[in-house]
Amino acid sequence: MMSFLILNGPNLNLLGTRQPEVYGHTTLQDIEAMCHAKAKDLGLKITFEQSNSEGALVDAIHAARGAHNGIILNAGAYTHTSVALMDAISSVELPVVELHLSNIHAREEFRHRSYIAPVALGIICGFGAAGYPLAIEALNGHIAAPG
Ligand code: DQA
Repeated sequence: MMSFLILNGPNLNLLGTRQPEVYGHTTLQDIEAMCHAKAKDLGLKITFEQSNSEGALVDAIHAARGAHNGIILNAGAYTHTSVALMDAISSVELPVVELHLSNIHAREEFRHRSYIAPVALGIICGFGAAGYPLAIEALNGHIAAPG
């Protein structure tokens, strides 16, 4: 059975109460449930994780090699700063979908730069929590029929 890692970075544990005008009212637990429902529909397995620590996210990306077929990554603010996450993605050679709840290109200029984008298969942003099941579908479709 195909398996995806859905990895969430710093401050995403606070979704639901964190700047709801930007990120909505859906909690990370709600999003996890949405992801499990989508995975069940598509007949695949997901592992859902969150960490506020950059090193733990690097470790999770390393551990995905051989354990998962692809990664969906909302790296939060590390998106805009982390060469380490970019290098980790390049090292494991798994397809990665970069995901953001908000449209990072419609926000402050420092959010326009992504270290993940150059090594990502594709990017989904601006659709709120609905981006997660979209990302699962996109990754599943890519693996089923690459190109
Ligand atoms: C985010 C966007 C980032 O700029 C921000 O630092 C986050 C959340 C999003 O999902 O919209 O923490 O990744």
